[in-house]
Amino acid sequence: MQTLDQLTHEAVALANAENKHHIPTQDAPLSDSVLEVSRQMMICNGCRYCEGFCAVFPAMTRRLEFGSSDVHYLANLCHNCGACLHACQYAPPHEFKINVPRAMAEVRKETYTAYAWPKHFGILYKNNGLWIALALSIGLTLFLQMTANFLNGANAVTLDLSNFYSIYPHNTLVSLFLPIFAFVVFSLFMGVRHFLSDIREATSKDNAPVVAIAEAAENALSLKYLGGGHGDGCNNEDDAFTLFRKYFHHLTFYGFMLCFAATSTATIYHYFFGWEAPYALSSLPKILGLSGGTLLAIGCIGLFYLNLKRHPLHGDPTQKQMDIGFIFLLFMTSMTGLLLAFSHALTAMPLLLSLHLGVVMALFITLPYGKFAHGVFRLAALMRFQTERRLPSNIGLSGD
Ligand code: HEM
Ligand code: HEM
Ligand code: SF4
Ligand code: SF4
Repeated sequence: MQTLDQLTHEAVALANAENKHHIPTQDAPLSDSVLEVSRQMMICNGCRYCEGFCAVFPAMTRRLEFGSSDVHYLANLCHNCGACLHACQYAPPHEFKINVPRAMAEVRKETYTAYAWPKHFGILYKNNGLWIALALSIGLTLFLQMTANFLNGANAVTLDLSNFYSIYPHNTLVSLFLPIFAFVVFSLFMGVRHFLSDIREATSKDNAPVVAIAEAAENALSLKYLGGGHGDGCNNEDDAFTLFRKYFHHLTFYGFMLCFAATSTATIYHYFFGWEAPYALSSLPKILGLSGGTLLAIGCIGLFYLNLKRHPLHGDPTQKQMDIGFIFLLFMTSMTGLLLAFSHALTAMPLLLSLHLGVVMALFITLPYGKFAHGVFRLAALMRFQTERRLPSNIGLSGD
């Protein structure tokens, strides 16, 4: 058994070596970011101080070598909670420069880019802020122009300010949004499928048993690994633990889901019962939409504030624009929706409707090539983790 000192020096020497492919790998060539995680994991594997913090460290202890599939898997298991950075005696300015959350975040972005579908669209992760701005301009211009055309035409006479369908009939909305929604679902599905086939190389060829899927879903829905090893929360701006990131993410996530449920319920009302919108304030779509929109807006404000306060060493600074852009789009979707809901019979209704639909379109077209990918990739990694954890370790170490 090597000592910690031997291991750390070996790992630093490996990373500095001119021939980088000396590091063990399933798949060559290795990117610099993958090599960096590999280097850090070899040091952590000797130290193991952070073993109880999250899923990354138990998964790490099942390995002695870190090839690219291992690193892709570990990077998406990391929840960027910062706990291991604040606990680490080898963190900068120490010469080992251990910063696991940053190294993992860099690889995460590489995996999103590499597994994007269609492949060439992966480039949109590079300047994600620009992509979001472009999508927003396209969405807003499209709907403002269509509304202006409508209002300038003879149709303006039939305009009913308490019914948004008088501007955009239901079928028009469906034909505009359904193809985009189908594309979003399909491209995310394809991306995760490629990612899963990569990380199965590193974990196991076995399909996830139902119990593993259920536990992974529970981990994701409760954000277990943003809660710190002891449930005190993660780090944000300093060494103090906080549960606020987890709570604000819950508001954002569940708010988003309620908005989605509102739209789905309204679709069922429309097609199955023939009940046409607008619905009463006491109706299910309205209750779900208003509560979801409010939770989403509060969650986004909280996440935005915490993001601004985040310790500069956390995560990858080049991804800030992607994170903040996504928070902004979610916030704008909820706010324009809420304003629209209260604009019935007001002359502002056509403008608010155009803004809401424009922002929703921007949100949809950026979903497969932006921050939203983190949810599905993490869920896939957690599923492999819960599967692998149930298998005997092939290096004679406990995976639990
Ligand atoms: C297919 C895309 C969507 C369309 C066509 C759409 C359209 C609309 C319309 C017409 C309203 C006004 C409802 C009313 O006043 O009765 C509305 C409200 C709202 N929308 Fe959207 N929306 C879409 C997607 C979304 C998404 C993805 C979100 C949030 C993530 C969202 C959030 C809201 C909220 C919070 C309200 C106000 C609450 C309510 O009236 O239900 N919408 N939306
Ligand atoms: C399987 C589901 C999900 C999991 C496991 C998950 C997990 C996480 C984690 C660990 C973070 C913090 C680290 C990071 O910045 O990457 C995060 C950030 C974030 N998540 Fe999720 N998430 C999920 C789904 C969603 C969904 C559906 C939404 C909203 C539509 C969402 C919105 C956000 C936002 C806005 C951030 C950025 C926060 C920031 O930069 O400070 N997440 N998520
Ligand atoms: S992050 Fe630092 S303290 Fe934690 S296991 Fe790695 S080397 Fe040890
Ligand atoms: S940042 Fe948090 S989730 Fe990521 S490896 Fe460190 S302790 Fe685990």
